[in-house]
Amino acid sequence: MAFNIALDGPAGAGKSTIAKRVAKELSYIYVDTGAMYRAMALFFLREGIAPENEAAISAACQKIAVTLSNEKGEQQVFLNGENVNGLIRTEEVGKMAAATSIYNKVREKLTQLQREMARTADLIMDGRDIGTCVLPEAQVKIYLTASVEIRGKRRFLELQEKGVTCSLEKICEDIRLRDEQDMNREISPLRQAEDAVLIDSSLMSIEEVVNEILTLVEEKLE
Ligand code: DC
Repeated sequence: MAFNIALDGPAGAGKSTIAKRVAKELSYIYVDTGAMYRAMALFFLREGIAPENEAAISAACQKIAVTLSNEKGEQQVFLNGENVNGLIRTEEVGKMAAATSIYNKVREKLTQLQREMARTADLIMDGRDIGTCVLPEAQVKIYLTASVEIRGKRRFLELQEKGVTCSLEKICEDIRLRDEQDMNREISPLRQAEDAVLIDSSLMSIEEVVNEILTLVEEKLE
């Protein structure tokens, strides 16, 4: 049976950085499910569909194929055969992903795909509902969080490094809004699974978080 690690938590908690490191250490596949929601969101944006229009979003789902591949340890996301990795990290796509991931048809489609991947491959999958809904049988479940202020500051520094001017206040406000959306939607909201280990990374280094997860995995494999 495949070994699955479910990693959930709010936006900006450092899930992808941590998951990539853990995957590398264990030679597991890393699956970033947020990227899948973002790829679908890109399709909706290109089609000019309003995020409030559930009927149109649901109908559009039938025209979308999201696939993943792993190249040199990096996940690549394909939207109907087109590699969209470089196009999905914008604020606009993120907002559309948060707004459209509330719909049943969108979630159904991606959940099915995620479960298929986890059936046969040892992997670490990050998202919002992995431990609670997608992989309730995952051998290790982590809920990774950090305070809004810390998440905002990390994002602020990241953007500054890229030469993007932004205000820390606005970033924190966006994070609060995203939390609100992800935690309060009706279907599969973000929450800690009962059997998930809570890691608050506010005062921890990446190394410390990675080591804590590796220890949990080792304990399960013993
Ligand atoms: O992790 P991210 O910022 O790339 O995710 C973008 C949005 O996708 C997030 O705000 C909510 C949605 N999402 C989800 O609903 N379920 C997941 N498992 C992953 C992401």
